[in-house]
Amino acid sequence: MQAPFEYEYEYEHAYEYEKDSQEGLMTSANETLLSVDDLRIHFHGEGPVSLAVDGIDVTVGPRETVCIVGESGCGKTITALAIMGLLPQPPAQIAGGRIFFKGQSLLDKSEGELRKLRGREIAMIFQEPMTSLNPVFTIADQISEAILAHEDISESEALQRTTQLLQDVGIPDPEKRRNAYPHQLSGGQRQRAMIAMALACGPDLIIADEPTTALDVTVQAQILNLLRDLQRKRHMAIQYITHDLGVVSAIADRVYVMYAGLIAEEGTTAHIFQSPRHPYTRALLESLPSREKRGQRLYSIPGNVPHPAYKPQGCPFHPRCKYRQAKCPQFFPTLCDYGEGHRARCPILFETEGPAGKTCEWKNL
Ligand SMILES: Nc1ncnc2c1ncn2[C@@H]1O[C@H](COP(=O)(O)OP(=O)(O)OP(=O)(O)O)[C@@H](O)[C@H]1O
Ligand code: SF4
Ligand SMILES: [Mg+2]
Repeated sequence: MQAPFEYEYEYEHAYEYEKDSQEGLMTSANETLLSVDDLRIHFHGEGPVSLAVDGIDVTVGPRETVCIVGESGCGKTITALAIMGLLPQPPAQIAGGRIFFKGQSLLDKSEGELRKLRGREIAMIFQEPMTSLNPVFTIADQISEAILAHEDISESEALQRTTQLLQDVGIPDPEKRRNAYPHQLSGGQRQRAMIAMALACGPDLIIADEPTTALDVTVQAQILNLLRDLQRKRHMAIQYITHDLGVVSAIADRVYVMYAGLIAEEGTTAHIFQSPRHPYTRALLESLPSREKRGQRLYSIPGNVPHPAYKPQGCPFHPRCKYRQAKCPQFFPTLCDYGEGHRARCPILFETEGPAGKTCEWKNL
């Protein structure tokens, strides 16, 4: 029988972010733009193999905002790099799985084919713009070059488009600012320039890897609002990577919670924030500040994310889990299905909280 679990979520986040009503934004599950199936990424070095991504399934529908959230080292960035075809191989190795974009298998594409796809169909915004903007070229040079690499237009048309893009992302006086070098812009403006570059060829999917973590909360909120507005105007999908559940609550349609290279829980934003079914998700929510917790010491999850070469046996979360039982270190938990796209990798909670009559498997080690 399903026991009631009402999570008192009241995150008093600092973002003045107007969230859209989800109606109309959600796309049906069978309308898939991106599909990552059982992806496995290993790193080989001295000692045991690092199972950095250990069989994950992620889908993104057209115009959807999907967040991938998890602590440092759980495999968020390397998953994004694998989708973009930018994973450094070696040291990384794609040990299994498939990635489809608009029905095409990305892992079977040549570097030349991927180069055509990057920017035009899928673009990425990185956490720190200074690592992806070239310091010796102006912003206009870099954005125009991205356009010219994909489109047969003149340099002056590309420059005109660049100026319009800079205006669209809210860079003041774009005719002038386009001639600035990256170091002459503020952190927020550089991130806006990165977004302009990502938008340059009208991709259907933008992968944003922690694009606001280096910014203060006010600028962060502006950038989130900007992405939301651009997404609405340009009908793009966004896969947004973050460790910040406050950002997730502000922007996500659907959420994947990652832990130790696995999906711990997935569902709509309401599933994750109102009825989380994995102890890790609950612990992440518990560690968020709220009005009620003001003046109290914030909860922090004991221990650390395990190194991918030395994951604990059984459920990888068991050393940190307050719901742990004898089975947890002995068997591997599968994703338990709560219905309506809500799944969580915890058969222990499923026993008491899952739909009546349904069971969830453990796998032998
Ligand atoms: N070049 C590398 N060589 C060996 N292992 C690596 C390398 N890059 C990543 N890894 C391993 O892959 C794991 C996942 O890395 P990833 O960068 O995807 O983490 P993340 O979830 O993006 O973390 P963060 O929030 O800190 O950005 C890491 O724990 C690390 O052990
Ligand atoms: S399977 Fe066990 S250790 Fe893992 S999350 Fe559930 S209760 Fe915790
Ligand atoms: Mg990362």
